[in-house]
This record gives sequence, C-alpha cells and structure tokens, in this order.
Amino acid sequence: MLAAALIACGRNTPDTAETPSLLPERPAPAATVSEPVPIPKTGEGNFENLVADYESKDRGIWQKPELVISLLGDLTDKTVADIGAGTGYFTFRIVPRAEKVIGIDIDERFIRFLDSVKVRLPVRYRDRFESRLARPDDPCLAPDEADAVIIVNTYGYIRQRVKYLQTLLKGIAPGGTLLIIDFKKNNLPIGPSDEFKVSLVQAEKELEEAGFTVEKIDKEALDYQYIILASKPLKPQHDGSR
Ligand SMILES: C[S@@+](CC[C@H](N)C(=O)[O-])C[C@H]1O[C@@H](n2cnc3c(N)ncnc32)[C@H](O)[C@@H]1O
Repeated sequence: MLAAALIACGRNTPDTAETPSLLPERPAPAATVSEPVPIPKTGEGNFENLVADYESKDRGIWQKPELVISLLGDLTDKTVADIGAGTGYFTFRIVPRAEKVIGIDIDERFIRFLDSVKVRLPVRYRDRFESRLARPDDPCLAPDEADAVIIVNTYGYIRQRVKYLQTLLKGIAPGGTLLIIDFKKNNLPIGPSDEFKVSLVQAEKELEEAGFTVEKIDKEALDYQYIILASKPLKPQHDGSR
C-alpha cells in the first residue's frame, strides 16, 4: 500500500513559530509522506523548478486568474477549497475575497510552502487560510464543508476519478460549485504529457457519473485549458433503481 494512502484526513500542518521565507531563499525540505506517489510535473526536475513553473511570470497571460476566479461568483461568506493547491497560485488570489480558503494538497512540500506564504499575509487575511494535507483518494473535506471547489491543472493526476468525485461531492454543500480547469489534449507548448491529461468529454462524463451537474463548459476562454463549471444538486440524486 502506498505510504501516502495511510495518512489520516484532517492532519493539517500546524502553525510554526518560525517564519519561513519563500523559495529560493530557503527551499522546503524534501517530501517524506508522498514519496511513493508520483509527483506531478509540468516543469522539469526538482521542487524549486516546480515552484518556478507554477509561479512563472508569463502564467498570468494565459491563465487569466481574474477571469477564472470570477466564474466562482460572489465568494463573500463562502468557504472555498483549492484541491491540488500547489504553491497557492489560485488559493492566495481567492483569500481576500472569501470567508475561508482551504489549500489542499497531497505533497507535504507544497503544504509547507503554502504555510510559508500564509505567515506573510496581512494579519486580517491570515485566519482565512488553512492548509490541509489530503490523500490521493480523498480531498479530506468534512461533509458539506466547501461552498466552492477549484481543481486547476490537477484533475489529470487524480486516479479513480469517479470515486474521487463521489467522495468530493460529500464535502460540497448542496448547490455548491466545482470548477475544473485542465490542459486541452493538444500538442501544447506548456503543460504535462498526455498521460496526465483528461479530455473535456471524458471529464464531463466522469462528473455526471459521480452525481455532479455540468453547468457550463468553455474551450475558448483560455488558450491551453478547458473550463468546466459543475454543481452539486440541491437534492440527492436517485438513479431510479430500487
Ligand atoms: C500541476 S500542480 C497544480 C497546482 C495549482 N493548482 C496551480 O494551478 O498552480 C498539481 C498539484 O496537485 C497536487 N496533487 C496531485 N494529485 C493530487 C490529489 N489526488 N489530491 C490533491 N492534490 C493532488 C500535486 O501535489 C500538485 O501540487
């Protein structure tokens, strides 16, 4: 069994008294918990390269974070979960707009990185953010905990996705939103290999199978990625079987 699969949900990285700084001044220690799980890469090589890749200066041009976040609507009084938060590219852009943001990842190095950013947030925002070490098969949300969930450039790394989405569904409040953004299955100058890409059609199918309602899809707004906006039905779905 994978060591990472043994991690219990809800084991958040505790606040540290020290004040870690962002890379590259002080690299985070190497992963321990998630070592047996293949670390997804869009950039090549080590952790510093992954950080540089996720936070690259040109990303704003093609990622259009403001457009993406606007799709979540008014987030005042809302709890947002960012699954596969990585360096917190979206997490920390959402913090000023939401009541609470949970940055979820399976890689302890990114959890430490997120915590290193948290201590640099203005005090009024600090308590709105929580990092959460999750499991590859479980985002570790409490029932109905999140009003909105985003999964950016991470969907293709999740295994047994329908099962994962069914677990995720329980962590979203009825009527809540799920926003998935992932790389199109084309030969792109950026993004992972096809092995870690899921086609838009496939992703839509998986969402419906898991019990989400697909509200909107967009293949054009972003150059390299598709967007799927889905929701958790207000009432539980029945499959008609008895
Ligand atoms: C390519 S990065 C994307 C990071 C961030 N969402 C962004 O857009 O910059 C993928 C992230 O997903 C995390 N990840 C991979 N599988 C995961 C899973 N099953 N559950 C949660 N996080 C996962 C990885 O550790 C990594 O931080």
